[in-house]
Amino acid sequence: MYQTPFHTKNISGSSFLVTGGAGFIGSNLVEYLLKYKAGRVVVLDNLATGFAANIKPFENEPNFKFLQGDITQAADCKKASEGIDYILHQAALGSVPRSIENPLATHVVNETGFIQLLIAARDAKVKRIVYASSSSVYGDITDLPKTEARIGKQLSPYAVSKRGNELYAEIFAKTYQMEIIGLRYFNIFGPRQNPLGAYAAAIPLFIDAFLKNQPPAINGDGKQTRDFTFVENAVQANIRAVLAEGIPAQGEVFNVAVGERISLNDLISILKKLTGSTVQPSYRADRIGDVKDSLADIQKARRELGYVPGVMMEEGLRKTISWFHQKEVQAIK
Ligand SMILES: NC(=O)c1ccc[n+]([C@@H]2O[C@H](COP(=O)([O-])OP(=O)(O)OC[C@H]3O[C@@H](n4cnc5c(N)ncnc54)[C@H](O)[C@@H]3O)[C@@H](O)[C@H]2O)c1
Repeated sequence: MYQTPFHTKNISGSSFLVTGGAGFIGSNLVEYLLKYKAGRVVVLDNLATGFAANIKPFENEPNFKFLQGDITQAADCKKASEGIDYILHQAALGSVPRSIENPLATHVVNETGFIQLLIAARDAKVKRIVYASSSSVYGDITDLPKTEARIGKQLSPYAVSKRGNELYAEIFAKTYQMEIIGLRYFNIFGPRQNPLGAYAAAIPLFIDAFLKNQPPAINGDGKQTRDFTFVENAVQANIRAVLAEGIPAQGEVFNVAVGERISLNDLISILKKLTGSTVQPSYRADRIGDVKDSLADIQKARRELGYVPGVMMEEGLRKTISWFHQKEVQAIK
């Protein structure tokens, strides 16, 4: 992974806090930062949905530190932010259905936790915070592709929590002169994404099923489309957003995607080809809170951040399947 860096700045004197660093996207960010010799990389994670195994490969690196703690706790955020230059905030309770089952838990972690972190970052004089927003903020708007300036009404408590983050980011940036950038991720997939449990995302769930020769379950008719984005592209966007100079950083949001969409039925055909599976998927009812079609306009990230997706979907799927064949996957199952 990451044969060439996405940054030109020397980061050996810089310290980074990755919240949610034991999770899927966070641990990929840690991998990049350590590969390119960041001065210090601190992970704050309570292991609610992440795994110690995801950060085990880094534990012997002298510039790496894991703090097991909770973003909803002011003291944990304060401790983690001390001496930090940049924050990559990934910690949250993901999943639309989880938020429908337990809206309060999603609210507390995603909103209260975000505000606690912003307060700690403000007090520690952190230079810039880049945080994970979500394509779910586009809600019921049907225009495609989705551009940052036009959103609809959110369709789930999870989407509301991410939209809330964007509003708080704008207010904190204005009120306390902070640099805060939101990245609206569109269906990120790749190594270290949890394939198991009621709230697993489609791609790891489907790959896991095909590799076990079991029929994956599709919600709805499979004609819904998504802009599936390999995790290396999300890492690229984070690194560019956190280090780029002279960019709009006062509460700005950027789409992070590839800018291409595919239906779940077509995704299934590609995965069958790549895994060699012959099983047919089963279909079940549509899920409440899900959007029908999703496709990002990525011009703003291209223009302002110099972001260009480097890994297209099929190559990303190959890399993800090859991770499933490694022993590492057993540790998170
Ligand atoms: N994966 C996607 O497609 C996608 C899409 C849109 C947005 N996002 C957002 O990106 C971020 C990362 O998602 P991911 O897919 O890597 O999920 P993940 O569940 O693998 O990672 C989230 C991490 O946050 C940690 N965490 C949860 N609650 C915490 C708390 N109270 N204190 C400290 N740590 C806590 C978890 O233990 C986990 O390690 C999240 O904010 C998510 O909402 C992801």
